[in-house]
Amino acid sequence: MKKLRIGIIGIGRIGLAQLEAVKAIERAGYAELVAISTRDEAKARSVCTQFHVPAYFTDYRAMLAEADLDLVHNCTPNVVHYEINRDILASGRHVLSEKPLTVDSTQSGELVALAQERHLKTAVNFVYRHYPVVQQLRKLIAAGWFGEIYAVHGSYLQDWLALEDDYDWRVESRYCGPSRAFADIGSHWIDMAQFLLGQNVSGLIADFATFIPTRVKSTSGPDSSAISGSSAASSSVEVDTEDYAGLLLEFERGARGGLVVSQVSAGQKSGLSIEVDGSKASARWSRGQPNLVLIGRRGEPEQTLQGVGTNDAAYLSASQPVSAQKALIDNFYRSILFGETPAYADFEQGHRIVRVVEAALESQRRRAWVTV
Ligand SMILES: NC(=O)c1ccc[n+]([C@@H]2O[C@H](COP(=O)([O-])OP(=O)(O)OC[C@H]3O[C@@H](n4cnc5c(N)ncnc54)[C@H](O)[C@@H]3O)[C@@H](O)[C@H]2O)c1
Repeated sequence: MKKLRIGIIGIGRIGLAQLEAVKAIERAGYAELVAISTRDEAKARSVCTQFHVPAYFTDYRAMLAEADLDLVHNCTPNVVHYEINRDILASGRHVLSEKPLTVDSTQSGELVALAQERHLKTAVNFVYRHYPVVQQLRKLIAAGWFGEIYAVHGSYLQDWLALEDDYDWRVESRYCGPSRAFADIGSHWIDMAQFLLGQNVSGLIADFATFIPTRVKSTSGPDSSAISGSSAASSSVEVDTEDYAGLLLEFERGARGGLVVSQVSAGQKSGLSIEVDGSKASARWSRGQPNLVLIGRRGEPEQTLQGVGTNDAAYLSASQPVSAQKALIDNFYRSILFGETPAYADFEQGHRIVRVVEAALESQRRRAWVTV
């Protein structure tokens, strides 16, 4: 059987999570991780030893030039996504990119065109839609089970940047791009909403706030060396990205939406929650219970998705947490090898979300509704 030969660029937090998912998929026999690229050589060597990866490179261009690869995962910080995705596509490889696809829509549009021109498959790592129960909910919404969809609302709240001495490259636009909270985690929620409703955001009004305008970057904590290759002395950093975003949304077929995103909400760990209101029923999903959808109907007790349709019980009785990350990567590989129907977001959808982020930035500047 033809095996997909895989490379990964960037072995930070998500790069390692993707590597572990790829290693788990290797056991199915149709993909193999052949090389990684990360600029820290000691880390590259130790990851290769621990996970039995045959080769490492400290320059991703050398990996693209020398390694025999079919597909590359790009797990680097936001501002380098464009350049690295472009180089991967130009080298003739399929690509799974981290989100946001790029930090501006001219760049993301170029990547969509390049992939089409080269007949290459693309995916963006919007993982949450890959929980099986979320996939099932989308089918039920599309089949009209919830009636006409009136509204979708929810939040994505975190607290890991809640203190003044919490620093990460994301707080600086030169590494993250002009939007932080919305582009970083709000983009996941927008993907979920568009995926579930089968409608794109067509207009919005946004209110961004930066509650902690200056942060302390310490030499012992996480710093921008992950991207800049240098570690600065302990210093004060002016924050030019938002901690918080509130949005009102309008969707293509008339549904309305409301979203609050924050990285400074004390006690919130990684709480994506989303609620869909239809004329016949409503649905609630949250990352805290990722294999469960609660369903409400007027005059009736709350049900779980288990009570709807025929195949749902299997999802809800699974004793192991389902790995959405592994499901996404597996679906991407299988769509290339066996023509499996894509459930993942491709670069076209990633590009659309970059445009939503840009519209939110414009709305914040103009304090007005903006068409996407
Ligand atoms: N899909 C998700 O659920 C999810 C979760 C976390 C992060 N992310 C995304 O993943 C990306 C990385 O985030 P992270 O938290 O893993 O960051 P990180 O800082 O932990 O890791 C970034 C890695 O990229 C490498 N790198 C930086 N610049 C590079 C360059 N020019 N060439 C090659 N390698 C380079 C760094 O050395 C490091 O290994 C971001 O775009 C983030 O938005 C997505």
